[in-house]
Amino acid sequence: MVAVGVWVEQVVPRITNKALDTEVVRAVRERVCAGLAGEVLEIGFGSGLNVPHYPAAVVRVAAVEPSDLGWRLAGERLATASVAVQRSGLDGQSLPFADDTFDAALSTFTLCTIPDAAAALREVRRVLRPGGLLHFVEHGRAPDAGVHRWQRRLEPVQKRIAGGCHLARPIDELLAGAGFTITRLDRAYLPKEPRVLGALYEGVATA
Ligand SMILES: C[S@@+](CC[C@H](N)C(=O)[O-])C[C@H]1O[C@@H](n2cnc3c(N)ncnc32)[C@H](O)[C@@H]1O
Repeated sequence: MVAVGVWVEQVVPRITNKALDTEVVRAVRERVCAGLAGEVLEIGFGSGLNVPHYPAAVVRVAAVEPSDLGWRLAGERLATASVAVQRSGLDGQSLPFADDTFDAALSTFTLCTIPDAAAALREVRRVLRPGGLLHFVEHGRAPDAGVHRWQRRLEPVQKRIAGGCHLARPIDELLAGAGFTITRLDRAYLPKEPRVLGALYEGVATA
């Protein structure tokens, strides 16, 4: 039996690094990163799976990521990156940056896992300049009642095996609650994934 700490610290980042690097998800990342420019904050940087998708207009990325293993797994991608990326923080809920620091922010498959996602979004909004854009793709509460019921049933198990990942967070409500204006939102199920896991919220929100 693997201890919970070892599972979360040593196994989950490796699984995530593979599971979120499919052709389908890479296409989603390319869409979500399009249009990012200037000084960019990425929360829940993970193993850097977005790095190959940063547009040339990105000047610098401040990566916020608690997992040392995630950061190590990002090594090869960082070595060949065309954009400077600095690990600049460990916790999206409490960002070590002054107000209005960033032109844009990026969050992909992260708001499911941050314990207090509302606090993290308030922090992201605080450090974005007024009018700055948050590009996001997240999985969360499904639009269909039947799928949502299953998400609620399975969520306790998912949280245990996937490092605190919630299945049914209402991402649009969290964004609005943190003061963002959602300017684009696409809802779809990720192809080839169980619907409980793949109910996506993809879009852009303005600080
Ligand atoms: C499912 S993974 C997604 C990783 C990456 N964003 C991606 O798209 O591949 C969730 C990430 O959120 C990170 N995370 C967990 N708690 C966090 C926190 N409080 N602040 C920032 N990131 C956090 C995890 O370490 C993990 O890298």
